[in-house]
Amino acid sequence: MTEGQFGLLDTDDVDSPGDEWEEVDVSDTEADRIARKRDREFSEFRERIKDADQFKVEASVFDDATYGALYKLVQDGHIDAFGGPISTGKEANVYTALSGDKEVAVKVYRINASDFKDMRGYLDGDPRFEGIGSDKKKVVTAWVRKESSNLKRARRAGVRTPEPIAVERNVLVMEYLGTEDGRSKRLSEVHIENPETAYEVVKEYTRRLYDAGLVHGDLSEYNIVFHEGQLYIIDLGQAVTIHHPNADDFLERDCRNVANFFARQGVDATPDELLSYVREYATPKDKDDTAPGSDDDAVPQGTPADRRDDE
Ligand SMILES: Nc1ncnc2c1ncn2[C@@H]1O[C@H](COP(=O)(O)OP(=O)(O)O)[C@@H](O)[C@H]1O
Ligand SMILES: [Mg+2]
Repeated sequence: MTEGQFGLLDTDDVDSPGDEWEEVDVSDTEADRIARKRDREFSEFRERIKDADQFKVEASVFDDATYGALYKLVQDGHIDAFGGPISTGKEANVYTALSGDKEVAVKVYRINASDFKDMRGYLDGDPRFEGIGSDKKKVVTAWVRKESSNLKRARRAGVRTPEPIAVERNVLVMEYLGTEDGRSKRLSEVHIENPETAYEVVKEYTRRLYDAGLVHGDLSEYNIVFHEGQLYIIDLGQAVTIHHPNADDFLERDCRNVANFFARQGVDATPDELLSYVREYATPKDKDDTAPGSDDDAVPQGTPADRRDDE
């Protein structure tokens, strides 16, 4: 990284920060129906994916409805071919895939991963997810929709993030940050030549997120990607709105992670300074000031079968 490489994005008008009111319908998805129907084409697709080298290890943890979701994404034209795995995380695996002539990233949450109790806590207090209970499938479906809507909201607020392209049940398709040489590296993996500038950008992004009513909740050098000379914030699944009961704690933790990381790079940064900056210069609107239903991160109602998150 060299001096002056980063530029901040212009901000759009962020129309309604805070919570959304629309309920998330997680009753059933096309993926579940596909999995139940078990028609020949789907069975062939599933066997083909199970046999593919890049899924060998993970195949055992995919349930039929996950194959259903991938199948639906192929049918809808979001995925043409699967590439290799980029990451195997605690709850999700990320793969590359081809969509037309461009690469996309496909994040697949494993329904049976063990940490769903944690996920449930992040959905508490968010009116979009009231009453979804603790059914794992519903929690994950809601989680993926939230990740997509958080990415959209962050982008509208002028924060560089991968563009969400489609969601289906426990699978999120998004813009791929990478080149022919592979995925772009996390901030933790690169040598930062101009840490002061990088810190200023991350500081501003933290403020912009908060201003748009969001707290990342897992912000650190591991969820910031250096791509084509710019910094991108990723992994917004756990991001909460400012009304979440733990929003303040999450913001403090984010500020601590970020400031301590940059302090280790020689920047004059402290968690307190970052936190005060964000608090002082962001004015997240209270939900009472904002009208529901106006922005596109509301999750569409209607039958799950016609539902597409990218419209
Ligand atoms: N859109 C993307 N483009 C390129 N790489 C990505 C993308 N999304 C995730 N990754 C890679 O996969 C890793 C895990 O993704 P992340 O969303 O952070 O999930 P986790 O919850 O497992 O941390 C990231 O650290 C990054 O290296
Ligand atoms: Mg991550």
